Amino acid sequence: MITIEENSQNQTIPKLPPKIFTSKWLQTIRGIVSPISFLEETQRRYGDILLSEFTNFPPQLVISNVAAIQEVLTADPQLFDSGSGNNIIQPLVGANSLILLDGDHHFQQRKLLMPPFHGERMRAYGQLIRDITGQVTSQWTVGQTFVARPRMQDISLQVILRAVFGLKEGERYQQIKEILTAMLDTFNSPLSAVFLFFKSLQRDLGAWSPWGKFLRRRQQLDELIYQEIREHRSQPESLGEDILSLLLSARDENGQAMTDLELRDELMTMLFAGHETTAIALAWALYWVHYLPEVREKLLQELKSIDVVNADPTVITQLPYLNTVCSETLRIYPVAFFCLPRILKAPMQFMGYDLPKGMMLSICIYLTHHRPDIYPEPERFRPERFLERQFSPYEFLPFGGGNRRCIGAAFALFEMKLVLATILSSYSLELLEKVPLKPVRRGIVFAPNGGVRLMVKEKF
Ligand code: HEM
Repeated sequence: MITIEENSQNQTIPKLPPKIFTSKWLQTIRGIVSPISFLEETQRRYGDILLSEFTNFPPQLVISNVAAIQEVLTADPQLFDSGSGNNIIQPLVGANSLILLDGDHHFQQRKLLMPPFHGERMRAYGQLIRDITGQVTSQWTVGQTFVARPRMQDISLQVILRAVFGLKEGERYQQIKEILTAMLDTFNSPLSAVFLFFKSLQRDLGAWSPWGKFLRRRQQLDELIYQEIREHRSQPESLGEDILSLLLSARDENGQAMTDLELRDELMTMLFAGHETTAIALAWALYWVHYLPEVREKLLQELKSIDVVNADPTVITQLPYLNTVCSETLRIYPVAFFCLPRILKAPMQFMGYDLPKGMMLSICIYLTHHRPDIYPEPERFRPERFLERQFSPYEFLPFGGGNRRCIGAAFALFEMKLVLATILSSYSLELLEKVPLKPVRRGIVFAPNGGVRLMVKEKF
């Protein structure tokens, strides 16, 4: 593959992808505040492999070309780093988080953290997920209105607290729940998300300043997490199946156990990555199901064919229409618009371009999921498309792929299906505003604007 061009002086000039012709500053602001129009416009104008530049970030390739996605996700992972590209979430998860690690250390930590979110260990959470859903929704009364996203977050946070700490209801559990929710709410609007993107804004100007408030909440949460670590450590005989117990028993190749700081960072990572994402996906699913009566009707028919309360969880998770509703939910407005960046460790020839060391390759999940050549009428919510065609892992990738693929993908889908089935078979709900909803930024993820307001019509 020859990709070096020669100019009139016979000097070679590297061939780079088309570059967005706007200032870095404007690209940054548009990318943070109105990413959908920014992404769609630039893709239309420059194509499906384009070069974008954000203030404080290395140049990045925005990729929505399926062959290029395949090339990135099947390349030798040693070619890329990712950790340093995720620095913006370091204030939340700490420097020892899986998301910020690279190389062998990343590989080892992934191996350790994957099993609890798969197979039998995952299925063991089936009844718990239904119980927590039942308990959170038991407070709903006919005529009551509620916002779906925070209610779904109540459920997913309780589930992940159980999986991460083995924590059951109690004072510490309640405190962790409240502080973590408040802490994530710091970044709940596109404007407040700028604090993550600009280090210069991360100043503690007192308890009432946004960053000061965030730091104080983080400190409170850290204290609770360290208490939990100390308690687990002091009772080795009662270590359970939870992730903290697992990490406490782990030893590296030199026989060293993880330090408290390393443990804290990994636990925060699981809490952070493992609940808001699933809650947002659930809020979207509830929106679509109640926005489109024919989808709701079809799903209810399918759910009627089984006993949702007592069925083996795998019977529920294998329901074909429920599966397509979850897939289409994650396709149309993926919770994460981008995969984690892959940063070139050396110059690389890629899709006919000569890319320099340090360039970030950013696979854009949102744009890929909206390609009309793969998904005809991409703006239409149509679960059937997943029955008509099988999409490749480079066409449908709500959980990313390759060596950084989401470790909670199976768990998130399992939880989504059980929560949805439990709610829909116990309540008849109605959407309060039957209007098209668009995603808005919440920190680094994207959630339905307004959170999806629903009303309880009937309790079965
Ligand atoms: C609907 C819910 C979720 C969505 C849409 C989602 C999406 C993603 C995406 C797109 C990535 C980046 C993958 C890549 O760059 O290739 C990722 C990474 C990750 N996710 Fe999820 N996720 C969800 C739920 C969860 C859950 C429940 C957990 C709990 C364990 C989790 C933990 C992680 C972690 C730790 C990573 C980083 C993996 C690494 O760096 O190796 N996620 N997720």
